[in-house]
Amino acid sequence: MRYETLHDLHIPKIGFGTWTIGGKSCADDAQDARSLAALLSGLEQGYTLFDTAEIYAAGHAEELLGRAIRASGLARETLFITSKVSPGHLGNADVLHSCENSLRRLGMDYIDLYLIHWPAREMELAETFRALNQLVAEGRVRHLGVSNFNLKLLEDAVALSATALFTNQVSNSLPDRTCVKNGVLAYCQKNDILLTAYSPVKRRFIRGNKPLQALGKARGVSSQQIALAWLVSQPRVIAIPMSFDPQHQAENLVAADMDLTASELVQLGL
Ligand SMILES: NC(=O)c1ccc[n+]([C@@H]2O[C@H](COP(=O)([O-])OP(=O)(O)OC[C@H]3O[C@@H](n4cnc5c(N)ncnc54)[C@H](OP(=O)(O)O)[C@@H]3O)[C@@H](O)[C@H]2O)c1
Repeated sequence: MRYETLHDLHIPKIGFGTWTIGGKSCADDAQDARSLAALLSGLEQGYTLFDTAEIYAAGHAEELLGRAIRASGLARETLFITSKVSPGHLGNADVLHSCENSLRRLGMDYIDLYLIHWPAREMELAETFRALNQLVAEGRVRHLGVSNFNLKLLEDAVALSATALFTNQVSNSLPDRTCVKNGVLAYCQKNDILLTAYSPVKRRFIRGNKPLQALGKARGVSSQQIALAWLVSQPRVIAIPMSFDPQHQAENLVAADMDLTASELVQLGL
């Protein structure tokens, strides 16, 4: 596994997403066995970075992640857990309350990385960061970040965070290069901020992408693996694919160690 080194931490280039673990917008207990099996398989295969949010399955994804980690027997400090506060909870007291609820559902006494999930039109970013900075000072959260922030908001967040802002988590994949066009990727790379790529292999992004399919076929790997290898070959970029399938989970880990040649990058149109 390749890593990004940031503030003396080694962050794996590939982590594990949890959207649809335990349900979608509501908890769906019928998904528990399948979800726990997927998480345990990920833990057994060596995933150490997990991305979740209070909104995923209305908190149930966090509960299942906590349960899977305890069942794995892995030491908490060997893992890096990200969670997110929802746009409707960005007031000072709401942030503190949301974080306590996430910690309770996870069954943990700290979250490694806590993100604002989406900017809200009516948010007072300074007020939100007062609460986020307090959570860091109290040791409930180790690092702060944002998600779905444009360049202007990202600069504002950097200025308001009492500790170095850790990441901006955004959609990033070969067919969705908004973060290149809007300057967010370049800003992250220049300022030592991780760009965490979400939806890196989503079916609609990969399906029909001919260069990915051709390169995958030539190498005997999947289009998804080429897509991930390309993403994480970029400085300061990590990716958090989600998969229920142990085979796909394994392939996604392998992708972190694949090197693409200059001619392969040209074939991808880069
Ligand atoms: N911050 C935000 O606003 C935001 C938004 C979206 C997502 N996220 C985070 O990012 C994570 C990933 O994004 P996502 O779930 O939208 O999309 P994704 O991980 O790009 O795509 C998930 C889909 O890809 C399939 N897949 C995964 N690896 C594969 C492989 N090697 N080969 C073939 N198919 C593969 C999965 O199916 P199988 O289960 O069959 O493998 C699943 O259907 C989420 O789980 C969440 O943690 C954050």
